[in-house]
Amino acid sequence: MFRLHLNVFIMALASRALGLAFDGAVGFGAIATGGNSGTTVHVTNLLDSGSGSFRDAVSQSNRNIVFDVSGYIQLKSAVSLSSSLTINGQSAPGNGIGIMGGEISASDKSNIIIRNLRMRQGTLDTDTGKSAFNMGGASNVILDHCSVEYGQWDSIDAVGAVNITVSNSIIALPIGQQFGAHVETGPSTFYRNLWVSAHNRQPLSKDNTQYVNNVVYNYQAGYTSGNTGGVFSHDIINNYFITGPSTTSSKNAFYQMAADQSVYATGNYLDSNNDGQLNGAPDNTVGSSTVLSKPWASTSLGLATMSAADAVTYVLANAGATPRDELDTFVVNVVKSFGTQGTLYKNQANTGVSNGGYGTL
Ligand SMILES: *[C@@H]1O[C@H](CO)[C@@H](O)[C@H](O)[C@H]1NC(C)=O
Repeated sequence: MFRLHLNVFIMALASRALGLAFDGAVGFGAIATGGNSGTTVHVTNLLDSGSGSFRDAVSQSNRNIVFDVSGYIQLKSAVSLSSSLTINGQSAPGNGIGIMGGEISASDKSNIIIRNLRMRQGTLDTDTGKSAFNMGGASNVILDHCSVEYGQWDSIDAVGAVNITVSNSIIALPIGQQFGAHVETGPSTFYRNLWVSAHNRQPLSKDNTQYVNNVVYNYQAGYTSGNTGGVFSHDIINNYFITGPSTTSSKNAFYQMAADQSVYATGNYLDSNNDGQLNGAPDNTVGSSTVLSKPWASTSLGLATMSAADAVTYVLANAGATPRDELDTFVVNVVKSFGTQGTLYKNQANTGVSNGGYGTL
């Protein structure tokens, strides 16, 4: 026991010495230090507000948030995070912690680390203009091993966000606009994420982006840049795009990638035959984008340690909040159908998952 704690302590020291959010943190958001050097604050109940609530815990900066309870916190309104926070969902006992029915907002804040948190807005939130997670105008934010489902505006809204990472996360089943993530300003890193059953924005990158070892399933449009957003560079390496029943054109794995966008693309695969097996082919022509002969970001190739096929195996086994719960299991099993299952939803209840679609924690 002592040895385990000592190892964790040494790992924490090592990542701090390297200036990383946590051991294994990657990308532009990895410089976040969160509330690691501040006070540890315990969430002791599942109430919307008041003493011991999540809302109260995140209301002050320089805090490391841990959970003494498991289950869903049902929000009555959006919850606003403070700057310099660490939220460690993995501290929750049992099947972990989830937030339902409202937006979690880091809007205009800085220096935030969120790990192993389930963010599931859904139609319980009557504000269809809000997202599951909003980091608009924020800086230095890393989401790792999060499960972001049932977002209404976007799953992740990051317009005006600087230095962000989304890694090892499930970004799935957006309702409302049915969009994944929208990033402007940047730079941003998307690494080893599972994107499932969205209409578009996986992500919409109006910024300089690293996109490595992601798996995108049952898309209508995948990686998108948007012709009007400005001139950006995109490193797109070793990702796997897999069509499903909702895919209307497999070519829209890359969408609105015009000649004014510069792309370094290598090792990407597309499986477009919906035949129940993973058997895609290389696909590295990114619209009419200008081809870069080397990555724009010096760290991109170093991140690409897995082939696209290995990333599928890894991401299906590891992405999302730990421990994997009922809803994430549903999402992963849809992907494992490799083309035969998948639906774009307008309401979480239509999934047939328990607890009105949210699943039981
Ligand atoms: C973004 O990260 C870079 C280092 O990579 C840093 O120099 C810059 O200050 C950061 N931006 C903000 C707004 O913190």
